[in-house]
Amino acid sequence: MIKRFLSGIVSLVTLVIVFDSCGKKDPNSPGIEYMPDMYRSPSVEVYNANPLYLDSIGSRKPVAGTIPRGFMPFAYANDTAGYTAAGRELKNPVPLTDDVMKEGEELYGKFCVHCHGTQGMGDGPVAAKLPGAPPAYSGTLKNLPAGKMFFTMTYGKGLMGSHASQLTQEERWKLVHYVQKLQHIKDKS
Ligand code: HEC
Repeated sequence: MIKRFLSGIVSLVTLVIVFDSCGKKDPNSPGIEYMPDMYRSPSVEVYNANPLYLDSIGSRKPVAGTIPRGFMPFAYANDTAGYTAAGRELKNPVPLTDDVMKEGEELYGKFCVHCHGTQGMGDGPVAAKLPGAPPAYSGTLKNLPAGKMFFTMTYGKGLMGSHASQLTQEERWKLVHYVQKLQHIKDKS
């Protein structure tokens, strides 16, 4: 009799333990912590409040006046004087190779062709919808210096938006090579 009673209790306890571990509402909950030693790590979770900072914001902003490694600040103001100076002073720091030209062409196909057209004539499908189509690289823009191209890609001009957030500086310089090819002043393929 006592044996039965005891085994009844044992199975009840087992059932409680088994069912306790499933059916919890929070899928991340570990269930009952029988020995919680070291269960909870004191580490700070990403994107959560960080008590080490006075404002408790975990994702810190870069310190004012600092730049990312390898980043070259663009020293020209977004005005006419900056545009003219960039055109006069900037030289393409990316040496032209076949690979660079190929990358330039690929980037052009992703970011520019819909407005400027495959040959840079300003006849891409989006250009037709713009109030003013982009001028042809090999026409009005034939003598546009590299620095001005880079400046325009960086800040935007008229109906063309800035591409600084989509393209790294290196990618913009590779595009300059490709635009010059479309200006017919570069003959590398
Ligand atoms: C939304 C359409 C659009 C896209 C996308 C676009 N452009 Fe333009 N682009 C224009 C228009 C319009 C102009 C003429 C701007 C003006 O002179 O007012 C222009 C002008 C230019 C010029 C001449 C700049 C100057 O200083 O006169 C260059 C070079 C150029 N684009 C290159 C590019 C490259 C490279 C890309 C791709 C990264 C690109 N554009 C993407 C519409 C576009």
